[in-house]
Amino acid sequence: MSKLVVANWKMNGSIDLVDEFAKTFTADNLILGLPTIFLSPFRNRNSILKLAAQDCSMFQGFGAHTGEISARMLRESGIEYVILGHSERRSISNLDSTENILQKLSNAMDAGLSSILCIDENFDQLIDEKTTDLLRNSLGKVILAFEPVSAIGTGIVPNLSDIRETVSKIKEKCDGINTLYGGSVNSINAREIMDIPEIDGVLVGGASLKIPELTAILQASSPAV
Ligand code: 13P
Repeated sequence: MSKLVVANWKMNGSIDLVDEFAKTFTADNLILGLPTIFLSPFRNRNSILKLAAQDCSMFQGFGAHTGEISARMLRESGIEYVILGHSERRSISNLDSTENILQKLSNAMDAGLSSILCIDENFDQLIDEKTTDLLRNSLGKVILAFEPVSAIGTGIVPNLSDIRETVSKIKEKCDGINTLYGGSVNSINAREIMDIPEIDGVLVGGASLKIPELTAILQASSPAV
């Protein structure tokens, strides 16, 4: 079975790139995480691919919250997933506290969105008893993504054995929940990362903006024949 590939464009891309990706990709193990403004244009051009927003509001439903987009609005716009708690929001820009992330996770669940919850080496801070209960009750609607901060955008991937050890610990703590690896994944290293048995897929930043790179990563997500 193919492993999951989640593309995170971050604050990159253009309508031209949306056009090109919409014509190129239909894989059912690919989830495309686009800037919110590009989600509907993409959906209008391609009704097959699964789409992810890169965040949702900590407020529920509707209300006087200027600039916010709720999980429910995303779901109503045909979006299936939301990436939550990315370290670029959590620590660097300090946009998301642990409390906010858990509120967003709960909002996403209530709205029927699946979540890709990012965690780093300090996953114990987020994955406490309350969170494991929430994950246990999520009925498969949450995927974790282990992204070591030192590997994001640096081209430096930790030892495969270290990745394996940490992902095993995470899965042990969270009842075997599906867990992705993210951080400097590209066409060259995708196969060896995907070959780690405990890893259920990858979360890809920079390389996911290039069609040949993403195509090669998708190829590496299928078992070798
Ligand atoms: P890079 O693949 O560019 O290192 O980014 C990883 C990431 O942050 C994906 O969410």
